[in-house]
Amino acid sequence: MTNSSSSTLSAIKNLYNNKCIQRSSLPHELINYLLTLESITFKNDSVCGNFSDNMKLLENDTLLKSIGFQLIKYFYSIDSTMSYVKKVVDNYSRAIIFSEVQTKGRGRAGRIWLSPPGGIWLSILWQVERKELLEILSLAVGVAVVNALKKLLLIDFKLKWPNDIMFLAKKIGGILIENMFKDDKVLSIIGIGLNVNNKMKFSGLQGVISLSEILGFNMPRNVILKAIALEVARILEKTSAEDIINLWRRMNLTIGRKIAVKINHLVVEGTVLDISPRGKLVIEDSKGKVWEISYGDVKYLEGIEYKRFSPHGTFR
Ligand code: BTN
Repeated sequence: MTNSSSSTLSAIKNLYNNKCIQRSSLPHELINYLLTLESITFKNDSVCGNFSDNMKLLENDTLLKSIGFQLIKYFYSIDSTMSYVKKVVDNYSRAIIFSEVQTKGRGRAGRIWLSPPGGIWLSILWQVERKELLEILSLAVGVAVVNALKKLLLIDFKLKWPNDIMFLAKKIGGILIENMFKDDKVLSIIGIGLNVNNKMKFSGLQGVISLSEILGFNMPRNVILKAIALEVARILEKTSAEDIINLWRRMNLTIGRKIAVKINHLVVEGTVLDISPRGKLVIEDSKGKVWEISYGDVKYLEGIEYKRFSPHGTFR
């Protein structure tokens, strides 16, 4: 899964701990990317980390302002960043809201989303100009988050349809999209939850993990949040729908697998053939019938993991 060697990972760890390290111990692309994110400085032959985990500081961040966010707001505690954005949806076309803690974090299909200190709990309000992206918005945001993590850590995270962010069989983050239609405008509220420095081991949830549990060290969250915002903007402004689908295909864990997908009370079992150009999951069941599914919860029946549906209808 990891594309970087252990010596590169150790250099990355030191850099994110705000140490100065030899330039030659890091790939150029990483240095260039961190320069774009205004997070490093140079001293002779060394590059020095200038990272922070204090998300309140992002309210004045120049990069976030340059993306066009008219409102950048941090809360220590809020019920849900999604609910807050809904309240301000009439006033802005781009806003970004994040909180240290959510008391009523919401997941897909009405589930609760645990949001303790240490994670990234974020909602982006984005007026979608390119209507061709509407159907594949959640896949596009998944691609953006995986891109951001890859650029910062040189690790290939994966996507489980529609948009769970995975490390092997474990989920590290999820995406919730709620669209609002006003006159001829579409305002999308993009919720992103990423387990970063919070510990999931004792959460009581199966199949989940945090970034710090994978890496063995804590990450400064500000740089992750900035990278996610930048990649979301790049994808939604510049990447064609066809390229998004192809990127998703390259990052996915789902195509070719035997799965069960739960759509409300219906469970369809079959092999995933592909995703359609409109982001639907294409499955062939044991009778040869082909289904195109636009929403639902996927469970792998072989390979990475297999757990039965829980009595509550959740997979977490
Ligand atoms: C999922 O179920 O996988 C989606 C989880 C989305 C969680 C995020 S955290 C920030 C935003 N606020 C919420 O209440 N939910 C989303």
